[in-house]
Amino acid sequence: MPTLNPGFLRALKEALALYPTPFYAYDWGRIREQVERLRRAFPKARLFYALKANPRLGLLRRLRALGFGAEAVSLGEVQRAYRAGFSPEEVLWNGPVKTEEALWALKERPPWVVLDSEEDLLRVARLLPGARVLLRVNPDLPVATHPHLATGRGESQFGVLPEEVPGLVALARERGLRVLGLHLHLGSKLEDPGDFLAGYRVLEALFPRVGPMEVLDLGGGFGLGLDLEALREPVEALAGLYGAEVFLEPGRYLVAEAGVLVARVVGRKRTRRNYLLLEAGMTSLLRPALYGAVHPVLPLYEGGEEEVYDLAGPACEAGDVLARGVRLPRPKEGDALAVLEAGAYGSSMALTYLDTPRPLELLWTGEGWEVLRRREPLEALWAEEG
Ligand SMILES: Cc1ncc(COP(=O)(O)O)c(C=O)c1O
Repeated sequence: MPTLNPGFLRALKEALALYPTPFYAYDWGRIREQVERLRRAFPKARLFYALKANPRLGLLRRLRALGFGAEAVSLGEVQRAYRAGFSPEEVLWNGPVKTEEALWALKERPPWVVLDSEEDLLRVARLLPGARVLLRVNPDLPVATHPHLATGRGESQFGVLPEEVPGLVALARERGLRVLGLHLHLGSKLEDPGDFLAGYRVLEALFPRVGPMEVLDLGGGFGLGLDLEALREPVEALAGLYGAEVFLEPGRYLVAEAGVLVARVVGRKRTRRNYLLLEAGMTSLLRPALYGAVHPVLPLYEGGEEEVYDLAGPACEAGDVLARGVRLPRPKEGDALAVLEAGAYGSSMALTYLDTPRPLELLWTGEGWEVLRRREPLEALWAEEG
C-alpha cells in the first residue's frame, strides 16, 4: 500500500472533519525534501519553479523565500509570478506563442524571454527591445515518456532545430536583444538519465558554433524516479565548457508526490466492472483521462472486505475514471480516499466542465493547515455571463 509522511496522513484524516471535500492537500515538508534533493544534485544551479505544475500563490511565495525563480508559459503565469513577489529578473517566460498583446502588457517589466522561433525573436525584438533572452533549442531527440510530454522531438512545435541556432543567435544580437544563453527542455516525466545526456550532447556539439554563453537553461522534466546524481557531473561539465551558469526549471519533481486529491465515496455500482462512484473525477484531476496517468490510491477509512474497484467520477464521460483495478477495503457512503501523486498538474489542469467548481486547496505546514485557494463558489462559474 502506498504511504504518505505519517504526520501528513494524520493531519489529512483530521482535515476531513474540518473542510468540505473534495480538496487538494499538499505536504510542505515533502516539497522541502525534494528541494533539498535538487540542491544536493545541482549545488550551483539557479532553480526556477515551473508554475504550470501548481501555481498557487502560497506555494510560490514559499518557494521564492527558498531562493527559487519562476518559469512561466503565459502572460497570466508571468503576472501571477509578479503577484507572488518575484521580480522580472526572477521570471523566465517560455513558450511558442507570445502575442503582441502579451508582449505589450510586459513592456514596463519584461521578464527573461525564451525565444522559440525566428518570428518570435523578431516580435520580441520589436516589442521588448533590449530584453534578456535565451534561445530554445529543439534537440530533435526521442525520449521515453508519453508522446504528449515529449517536447524535444524534432516534430514537436517547440524551439528551433540545432542547425538554425547559430544564425538565430546572430540575428537576435543584430536586433539588439541581450542573448544570454541557450535553453533546452526535453519533455516531462523523464526517468532515464540517458535522455538528458543525449540532450546535453546536442548543446555540447553546438558550442564551437555559438561560443561561450552566460546561461545554459537545461529545463525541467525530472521524473520522480530519476537518479539526479547521475546528471550532476555531466551538467557541471557542460556548464564548464560554456563558462555558463546553469538554470533548471523543475515542476513535477518538486510538488507531485507532496499532493493528494481527497474525495468521498458516493456509492458503489456494478456493471461489467466493479465501480466506486466518487464525488470528484476528471474535472478535478484530468491526468488519468488525458494521459492515462496512473495514480496510487490510499483509503482514509477502515473498511470491510477488500475488493478490486474502478474509481469513477460524476462526468458523463466513460473516460471519467481516476484509477482502475484498485484493491481497497469496501467503503461505506461518505468514506474518503486520497488519490496520491496529485500535487503536479492536478489543480493547475482542473476544469469547470459541467459547472463543477474547482476544489479547495490546503497546505499542511507541519503545524497547521493553510488555505491556498478557497473552493470556487458556484456563482463564480457564471459570474462573467451578465
Ligand atoms: C519549458 C518547460 N520547462 C519546465 C517544465 C516543467 O516540467 P516538469 O514539471 O516535468 O519538471 C515544462 C513542462 O511542460 C516546460 O515545458
